[in-house]
Amino acid sequence: MFPAPCDLLLTGAGAVLTQDPGPGGLPRAAEIPKLSELPAGTAVAVAEGRIQALGPEEELARRWAPRRRLDARGGFVVPGFVDAHTHPVFCGDRSEEFEWRCQGLDYLEIARRGGGILASVERLRRASDEELHGEVRRHLLRMLRHGTTSCEAKSGYGLTVRDELRSLRILRAAAAELGMEVSPTFLGAHLVPAEHRDHPDRYLDLLCEEGLPAAAEDGLARSADVFLEEHAFDLGRGRRYLERARELGLRLRVHAEQFAPLGGARLAVELGADCADHLEALSEEDAGLLAASPTFAGLLPAVPHFLRQEADAPARLLLDAGARWFVATDFNPGSCYTPSLPEAIHFARLRLGLSVREALAGATCLAAASLGWEGRKGVLRPGADADLVVLDLPRVEGLGYAFGENPVRHVVLGGRVAVEDGCLAL
Ligand code: NIG
Ligand code: FE
Repeated sequence: MFPAPCDLLLTGAGAVLTQDPGPGGLPRAAEIPKLSELPAGTAVAVAEGRIQALGPEEELARRWAPRRRLDARGGFVVPGFVDAHTHPVFCGDRSEEFEWRCQGLDYLEIARRGGGILASVERLRRASDEELHGEVRRHLLRMLRHGTTSCEAKSGYGLTVRDELRSLRILRAAAAELGMEVSPTFLGAHLVPAEHRDHPDRYLDLLCEEGLPAAAEDGLARSADVFLEEHAFDLGRGRRYLERARELGLRLRVHAEQFAPLGGARLAVELGADCADHLEALSEEDAGLLAASPTFAGLLPAVPHFLRQEADAPARLLLDAGARWFVATDFNPGSCYTPSLPEAIHFARLRLGLSVREALAGATCLAAASLGWEGRKGVLRPGADADLVVLDLPRVEGLGYAFGENPVRHVVLGGRVAVEDGCLAL
């Protein structure tokens, strides 16, 4: 038998780790997706952007004739990370505001001083398409270098119909250019912009009548999200926005209970949202409700660290009560300036008490399931997308143990080598 041509053969793996999220791609209540560990010497054959085979190196070398080989050099191989909550469509940074926070001002005080989300909104509105495109591309590449091969990404720093749609168009173009699959989310309801401060309902009318319908068209957005918070959108306005989005065929994701227990998680469950994210102020009762529902608990454990906030999401309570979960970065310029899922995993383990298997599942197969990508992303099996990360670590417990350095050696994105020895290779 002649070997079949393939695009890539990954060899030299210390181990290949993947988790099985169970039938239908979703975990059963309170079950950690089973970690299967294929031993050292397991190779992966890739063709047409998909995994073709996983198995002993000698066997795959006989069956496949690769155009290119990639040596893992003993690193262990995991599915490409799936970041299910990011805000990469922004310009510049807000490092001056970080300095204010370090001096003791909190998130809400900084917003009152003219920092916060609205500072990023001003920057984005002034930016040309070319400038914004360059910034988004740079942010996606930073994520990729840290092992993120697909993600959810929100608009939310435009806050006019025009700038929100422009954000989504540029996001789509930048993602396509890199070959990265991005699930776009319309976050026109991030905050009420300054020009509508005295008439929030007028802004909401615009979102419901123009923004959401335009975003739903042509798949410019797959989901809609709202920031339910005292200084952002209240429950009544949030409900109106989410119901309109649902009517237009958009999936729902919600920023809920970050600072105040407003009832956002309860609303997310009621409306059948894919996830309720943040949850640092979630009540015990609502944790029970969320845990009993199919709505994912979106854990963003680097955010309270970055905001010097003491409270964490009650992750142990949620997981032990049977909630579905994912671990994401919340990469954004204000409340969590890291593009690194390994860093988020560090905080998920250290601050939330997740086991390494829970954290890894939360950044791979479960994150994918929250986006409707179960079985295709966040898993290593024949037929799945060929998104892989080779980690420069001797064992899985090292993931999140090391912090402040990038553990990613190689990244394979859709069957192409995108990062080699820590350097971009696209
Ligand atoms: O997810 N919570 C609202 N939005 C972002 C913060 C955005 C910003 O400060 O720029 C978040 O934390
Ligand atoms: Fe967020």
